[in-house]
Amino acid sequence: MNSNGSVSANPAADKAADTAPVGIGQPFWLLAELTYSCPLQCSYCANPINLKGGGQELSTEQWLSVLKQGRKMGAAQLGFSGGEPLLRKDLEVLIREARQMGYYTNLITSGMGMDTERMAGFKAAGLDHIQISFQASSEELNNRLAGSPKAFAQKMAMAKEVKAQGYPMVLNFVIHRDNIDQIDQIIELSMALEADYVELATAQYYGWALANRDQLLPTKAQLARAEATTNRYREQLNGSGPKLIFVMPDYYEERPKDCMNGWGKLFLTITPDGTALPCHSARELPIAFPNVVDTSLEEIWYRSTGFNHFRGYGWMKEPCRSCDEKEKDFGGCRCQAFKLTGDAANADPVCGKSAHHGVIEAARQRADSATSEGVILRNNRNIGAARQQLHNLIARG
Ligand code: FES
Repeated sequence: MNSNGSVSANPAADKAADTAPVGIGQPFWLLAELTYSCPLQCSYCANPINLKGGGQELSTEQWLSVLKQGRKMGAAQLGFSGGEPLLRKDLEVLIREARQMGYYTNLITSGMGMDTERMAGFKAAGLDHIQISFQASSEELNNRLAGSPKAFAQKMAMAKEVKAQGYPMVLNFVIHRDNIDQIDQIIELSMALEADYVELATAQYYGWALANRDQLLPTKAQLARAEATTNRYREQLNGSGPKLIFVMPDYYEERPKDCMNGWGKLFLTITPDGTALPCHSARELPIAFPNVVDTSLEEIWYRSTGFNHFRGYGWMKEPCRSCDEKEKDFGGCRCQAFKLTGDAANADPVCGKSAHHGVIEAARQRADSATSEGVILRNNRNIGAARQQLHNLIARG
């Protein structure tokens, strides 16, 4: 029974919350990054540059323990992602067990490594939802961006299979300067595939995507055209067909996003080796984050230095500290502040009040004359080149 007299749907979570420090809520979203390995080579990958795919990974038993602990603490949404989560042979087991624990399970995949039998196995295991990413609406561009000659055909086949097997389907297109002018074809393709939701999400500049930012950031004019096209389709569809979700890049905003809905508020990411993070990019910050191999999830979430680092407002410097919008955006993204200003406690430079806002304005200006030439595909051979490109980008400011 809750304090309001109602019966709880998750008594174990209530018990965990009873022992939690005051003011810290329960995690809601658990993102299980099962592996950093990936058969594709997307230049906008948000995985850290310095980590090679194929490193240390948690065992099936360790993942099951993490999922159990997360559910006990109240997490309800579970995402399996990577890298490419299909590379894990135990994915079906993880889905089945997670579903029995009561999670709503989401598979976030490129579709590479999927086949009809495997998808049916996931269905039998109780998988709720599949999101398939595409790079573009044409085979040539899709395969060039993915760094794989087979990617488009495989994605098309698997998207059709998702519908055939009765899943709700989300298609995700990462939008950047090379595919944004084909937004109408992208929407047409999504309609033909009978997608339920289409995320037209402009690249977020973390990991490999930050190293490639000059090659990826669309111009303001491109964005305006793409948004207008999306709105035109929304009007035509008038509630029928896929729901179109267009995500603007924060680089063209004057106020930052409330990244992750605030640090350590709802999101908990577990990386392939068991490092626990408040967001998928946080391991690039100069902060020691705990690992689920030797620390309980409850200890990590409620009491670790890493998760408490940017909770509340005490850590803020000016202009965030005295800003009347700080409860709305929490000073923006800590990872972006660190990468672009050198201090994770600074205001996100996207904010027009930030002393470092010039780095965002300079990136916008460069986008007007940039091309995608020099874009670096994500693979282990290119780690050195990506590091150098990132170094140059940050040094230039
Ligand atoms: Fe880490 Fe925004 S991506 S706080």
